[in-house]
Amino acid sequence: MVPILITNHGYRYITNDIGAAQAFGDVKERIYAVKVQQPRLEWGKVCLRAERAFEVLSAHYELGVHRRGCFKTRNCGLTMGMGSSVPHLLAESESEKEMLAKFIQEIEQYVRHFTVSARLWMPDLMKEYTDLQVKLFALDCTFRALFPDSPFCSFTANMGPRTVCNGHRDFWNLVYGTCPIGALGPFNHRTGGHIILHEPKLIIEFRRGDVMFIPSAAVTHENVPIADGETRYSFTMYTAGGLFRYAWCGMRTLKDIREKEEFEELYRSYVAEGPVRWESGWRKYSTIGDLIARARGSSSKKK
Ligand SMILES: [Fe+2]
Repeated sequence: MVPILITNHGYRYITNDIGAAQAFGDVKERIYAVKVQQPRLEWGKVCLRAERAFEVLSAHYELGVHRRGCFKTRNCGLTMGMGSSVPHLLAESESEKEMLAKFIQEIEQYVRHFTVSARLWMPDLMKEYTDLQVKLFALDCTFRALFPDSPFCSFTANMGPRTVCNGHRDFWNLVYGTCPIGALGPFNHRTGGHIILHEPKLIIEFRRGDVMFIPSAAVTHENVPIADGETRYSFTMYTAGGLFRYAWCGMRTLKDIREKEEFEELYRSYVAEGPVRWESGWRKYSTIGDLIARARGSSSKKK
């Protein structure tokens, strides 16, 4: 698979560098994907604890074939879509509630690295995510962040035991949004578990403990298979595009504002803003220059 993509289709192979962040920019140098640097201290222990939590959770779920592959998976958090008329928490049975709460508690330190990295590498985009959360949490007092200070409303725990995704785009995510992915093991990252980004033609070595941000709705992505007997878990976070749309429609559904006369003006402006929404959303990705300027306390954001 990998040699064919490189030789016949011009894909670029990115060797894993554990000592540095590896960032990928678009034609305007905006960083749309980044494998962030692993924390230098205690990260091995934190990953081990997270792996144990995955192992415990995994015993409660069945292996199933789905759109992204054949592995155990569970989504959790706040969502919108599939016919729902208001934002809501994904359903959990009584037995799941306690189990998932325990899982969340066990991986809290692991997820802190996702949160810190998101705000470091994508500050403008994360501001949009956080602003949305403020509006959503005001709607219902049972809504809350799943992890302290996390800008993402939901997560997916892929419990494998061999989590290998087929090529897909996560169409329910915000179209220009980002999605952090973390891999846990053990598996040999030289021979499997790579992240392939198809449109930018990248094959990225992705080792145990790595976290990478990708625009998962806009870019087709998949994994290189791992060997028999290896284990790969993955943890991803996202905010459903439907939640953003709900806010853009004045905390109503699109159907509501399209069909009710009283919202005619709101609907007209929602439609008019459509063509520029992608452009202005994508501009929220920062360049290295933006990030350096921010770190120095000034702003040189490219428009
Ligand atoms: Fe995905």
